[in-house]
Amino acid sequence: MNRKYRKTIIAGNWKMNMKPSDVKPFADELKNIVSRAKWCETVICAPFVDLPAAVKAFKDCRVSVGAENLNENPKGAYTGEIAADMLVDLGVKYVIIGHSERRQYYGETDISVNKKVHAALEAGLQPIVCVGESLEQRELGITIELITLQVKTALANVSADKVRKVVIAYEPIWAIGTGKTATAEQAGEVCCAIRAVIRNLYGARIARAITIQYGGSMNEKNAAELLAQPDIDGGLIGGASLVPEKFAAIINAANQE
Ligand code: PGA
Repeated sequence: MNRKYRKTIIAGNWKMNMKPSDVKPFADELKNIVSRAKWCETVICAPFVDLPAAVKAFKDCRVSVGAENLNENPKGAYTGEIAADMLVDLGVKYVIIGHSERRQYYGETDISVNKKVHAALEAGLQPIVCVGESLEQRELGITIELITLQVKTALANVSADKVRKVVIAYEPIWAIGTGKTATAEQAGEVCCAIRAVIRNLYGARIARAITIQYGGSMNEKNAAELLAQPDIDGGLIGGASLVPEKFAAIINAANQE
């Protein structure tokens, strides 16, 4: 973390877990155990149907709400889809874009990620853009090249002014939901490389100000060590964000003075 230059953001990704009726009990429990998160911003990204309840329940514990996806078009004949300004209208602030599960199961590509990033920024949402390599790609030694391409494509034609709103989440696919975390050094190295890509595209001042998260089996035990890396400015947390005590412990790890 480097709080002098950028925000630390701890974001939960509930994926396809938690019903609308689960939201308030979770928020009530979190409220009771989390110390005032003075130094970090907390976000819960929830399924679409949970969002109205989440905006309401998290309002008084200073937790922002995010969606897990959006459609790249502003409106129109796209049955079953959700547009950026519908989310904004609800009071949603963030949106996860290009999570590896969406790339793997729903055919999202770097190009569609770029379109969604533009749609989100246009509407005033803050995108949390996920990038990450598979185990095979890591073993081939192409991690940095691959992530460079993912970041460059995701940010194509995004202005310097708007890119400040983008959060990048480095999530090695082999670490997601597997209990296998990247070492702090491995994660720190890739996050540092991501910042270098942004520096090349937008210059040092903007690169310094961008929040880069790590995700992939981050939990209450390994959070402090990962967050101690200078280029890891937070986490995107799946499994551990479903349990208030575990999520609170990660927020507290990010909230040390
Ligand atoms: P995990 O998920 O923490 O359960 O590994 C992270 C993510 O997919 O964002």
